[in-house]
Amino acid sequence: MAKEFLKTHDDIFASRPTTAAGKYTSYNCSDVSWAPYGPHWRQARKIYLSQIFSQKPLDSFESIRIEERRAFISRLYALSGKPVVMRDHLMRLTLSTASQMVLSNKYFAQSEEDGSLVTFEEFQEMIDTWFLLGGVFNIGDWIPWLDRFDLQGYIKQMKELDKKFDRFHNHVLDDHQAKRKTEKDFIPTDMVDILLQYAEDPDLRVKLTRDQIKGLIQDLLAAGTDTSASTVEWAMNELLKHPRLIEKATEELDRVIGRDKWVEEADFSKLPFLEAIIKETFRLHPITTLLPPHYAIEDGTVAGYHIPKGTTVLINTWSIGRNSKYWDSPEEFMPERFLEKDVDMKGQNFALLPFGSGRRRCPGYNLGLKLVRSMLANLLHGFNWKLPHGMKPEEICMEELYGLTTHPRTPLAMIPEPRLPVNLY
Ligand code: HEM
Repeated sequence: MAKEFLKTHDDIFASRPTTAAGKYTSYNCSDVSWAPYGPHWRQARKIYLSQIFSQKPLDSFESIRIEERRAFISRLYALSGKPVVMRDHLMRLTLSTASQMVLSNKYFAQSEEDGSLVTFEEFQEMIDTWFLLGGVFNIGDWIPWLDRFDLQGYIKQMKELDKKFDRFHNHVLDDHQAKRKTEKDFIPTDMVDILLQYAEDPDLRVKLTRDQIKGLIQDLLAAGTDTSASTVEWAMNELLKHPRLIEKATEELDRVIGRDKWVEEADFSKLPFLEAIIKETFRLHPITTLLPPHYAIEDGTVAGYHIPKGTTVLINTWSIGRNSKYWDSPEEFMPERFLEKDVDMKGQNFALLPFGSGRRRCPGYNLGLKLVRSMLANLLHGFNWKLPHGMKPEEICMEELYGLTTHPRTPLAMIPEPRLPVNLY
């Protein structure tokens, strides 16, 4: 059925419903994620794919990813022997990498006393809330006449969040625009520069408004943070539950990389077991358990069912990943299953859809995979991990917390002990 909706009839179901989250937290669906199928979405997606997620810009941002990863490892190293809440560290790394690539990272207040801007921690909270509110069951989205009563108070929270983001984005845009005007022979250095340059192109089919640019910045800042951090969080929980898999992964890392260097992006293709762990994590813990809602823009017939225009379609990747028709021992975490055959995870195999498929497939999957692979590989290569206070592997809580993304309900604390020589940090 997923194939029917995302491939055979993708032209009908590639839109999104207008939800309160899209309206109030994404500039009236002016980003890509919440935008309805149409000229703005088509053009903005083209900008992403050609100017931001293509090989050249992604390569040019590699030095940022290395620098941020180094800072992350140093922070963990300084905490050797003490319990660290892995989620907090992963979120900090993904958000600081995203904000450095998107807006050159200089817009955060250094302390709470500097009231003109938000601190990095406050910004992180805003992003967390964006993900949470993006996935809530807001009753007015389903029963429109109840919308104006805001019975659950979500719309009020969304509007408050929107105000905070808007203040931040206005500041970022004004500063970037001033820099473009004043610098001679201006060269774009971050994604906001690239977007602004594109917005000035006189041949654009749809002129980009300021709100639309803000929507796109928001998308770029948020979409890759919780998604990649939560994937690594799930992977670490599963690995600590199955210590024999850590042994196998570190054996591969020692053999291929060696104990005298970190894992770089160029090494990924030589680490099949690490890749298998990542695929198995995506199978059992897809981050968007129900893909963001798809929406029928006209009547269609799918597998004999009449689906009227205006129907919202939810694709349950969580249950597909646990369906015994497609997977042996589906409830077990067994990365080895992916060593036996090469299973695509980028939308060609409909039993494994971590990035969706078709017209709405995640445009940032390349960057997302780079982040996930490098975080997980270096966490395993650089440190031995122990559970705190004699906690047993079987006591690790795997309950889920749902928002726009799904992550462990109880963030797990774990103790790092260095594996690589100290002078490498
Ligand atoms: C492991 C990391 C990631 C995962 C698991 C992931 C997953 C997904 C999924 C499942 C979708 C929805 C597909 C559908 O509706 O059918 C999506 C859409 C999207 N993702 Fe990602 N993503 C990741 C990283 C990123 C990154 C790094 C970015 C960019 C910075 C990004 C940007 C987007 C955008 C803009 C959309 C909306 C596409 C559209 O509606 O046309 N994602 N992602």
